[in-house]
Amino acid sequence: MPTLTWVGKDKVVNHHTSVPFRVLQRESHFDAPDGTPANSTDNRIIHGDNLAALKSLLPEFEGKINCIYIDPPYNTGNESWVYNDAVNDPKIKKWLGQVVGKEGEDLSRHDKWLCMMYPRLKLLHRLLAKDGVIFVSIDDWEAGTLRLVLDEIFGTNNFVANVVWQKRTSPDSRLRLGDAHEHIFCYAKGKKLIVLNKIPQSEKQLSNFKNPDNDPRGAWVSTDFSAQGYRPNQMYKITTPSGREVSPPSGNCWKNIESVFLELVADNRIWFGKEGNGVPRRKTYLNESEGVSAWTWWSNGDVGHSQEAKSEIKDILSDCEDVFDTPKPTRLIERILQIATNKNALILDSFAGSGTTAHAVLKLNAQDQGNRRFILIEMEDYADTITAERVRRVMSGYGEGNKQSAGLGGSFDYYTIGAAIFNADDTLNEAVGVEVIRDYVSYTEGIATEYRTAQDNAYTQYLLGLSPETAWIFYYEPDAVTCLDLNFLGSLKFGANKPETAIIYADKCLFNKEFLTKHGIIFKKIPRDISRF
Ligand SMILES: C[S@@+](CC[C@H](N)C(=O)[O-])C[C@H]1O[C@@H](n2cnc3c(N)ncnc32)[C@H](O)[C@@H]1O
Repeated sequence: MPTLTWVGKDKVVNHHTSVPFRVLQRESHFDAPDGTPANSTDNRIIHGDNLAALKSLLPEFEGKINCIYIDPPYNTGNESWVYNDAVNDPKIKKWLGQVVGKEGEDLSRHDKWLCMMYPRLKLLHRLLAKDGVIFVSIDDWEAGTLRLVLDEIFGTNNFVANVVWQKRTSPDSRLRLGDAHEHIFCYAKGKKLIVLNKIPQSEKQLSNFKNPDNDPRGAWVSTDFSAQGYRPNQMYKITTPSGREVSPPSGNCWKNIESVFLELVADNRIWFGKEGNGVPRRKTYLNESEGVSAWTWWSNGDVGHSQEAKSEIKDILSDCEDVFDTPKPTRLIERILQIATNKNALILDSFAGSGTTAHAVLKLNAQDQGNRRFILIEMEDYADTITAERVRRVMSGYGEGNKQSAGLGGSFDYYTIGAAIFNADDTLNEAVGVEVIRDYVSYTEGIATEYRTAQDNAYTQYLLGLSPETAWIFYYEPDAVTCLDLNFLGSLKFGANKPETAIIYADKCLFNKEFLTKHGIIFKKIPRDISRF
């Protein structure tokens, strides 16, 4: 498989594993006002660099995100807008300097962009569920490189589609060959496992449903009853109600065998035209229709365009000075969610911008009484004043007069990125609290959720988890040195639930290897043996 190389790649391929694990700090909670409809709760908006934020999400969400949508900076070289389109944001520059080092000074704009994207995509891949899908918006500046990087991280076999979104309504008259589209690359974690949904009919498609024969099942459309190919038992002659005999058109056979056709006729599901003389067509009823299959051409009429997205955000944040300049239309993200999510899906957008993804999630929930939840991450300071503020207004309702939009309901928590769990000298940062450290170790030990225990369990406050085979014990005191000795072992009373193996973390251990092996104990030293991920 061809792979892409660029200056600095060697420094970032495994960088995601050495990003310090930081604690997410819950700053505030927002609930839609009374009177708004029920919508999803337990949503999150995180203010901070998504590299740190995605890492912090791993213990709780690894393999659990059903749908990721990202719209990263396009790296067009246009630096007029507030966000780091050319990867020149001071925070990202500093990060590149630290990760890539001196070599980083010679990086081209494209090298920098790829260095920025690679470790973030690696973490997104880990967060995606095994039947989940990721959609990535991009234009032609980085489409070629991004495709190769996605192939490398997700696997060429997991490429699902390259959607072409028609973002403009008319050509840019200043250009002789202006661009009108962007790409949305879709990849799966495991393509064989994904289930994509049909999409609702468009207004135009709906207008094709009619009821010329007053069928009690309601409006219908008819489709050709012939199919390409030759199947001997689907080549029979059909007599129309007017008495005319018809055979399948040349190169075709009928869609079904004769017995099925006769059942359909008896059930008034075949249409021969008003005069009963036409070639047979199959009726599909509006109330039985599961929607239509999506394809990769998304026209602005169906999913909105850039100008529509700008008007949307202006209507919502009309009183804000710096209204966001490059939002996506809500209808575009809604289309992604219609195809790729069920009503309980968890959706992640780690380049959140003006929060369109949350808006689309809430809107779709309101339409189908779904309980989809979202996690948004935004690095810039407008995470609160634009990203979260849009979501607050969409949940509460906004606008006046004929531009008024009713609140969609729901709630979210707002987080910032807090302290690292390890200090610079690799000791544990006690300030983050014992609960956080216990959760971290439970995750690195891979203790399944059903085996995890709280501190106030029946056995010992140090127990992290108990399965039929293994007990995981984290003998940790923030202000004291703990020692695995006979006293401590004597305090553990598992009775009939005593498992074969005990993995015990402590600062020190007084036993030799033979003793530990004989009693099925694996000793792990704090902090040396706590894994980093
Ligand atoms: C193209 S905009 C996304 C627009 C969004 N889809 C919308 O509809 O409003 C990209 C966003 O990603 C943010 N961003 C860039 N680098 C980031 C990073 N490392 N961590 C978090 N956010 C980042 C930018 O600040 C910007 O708001």
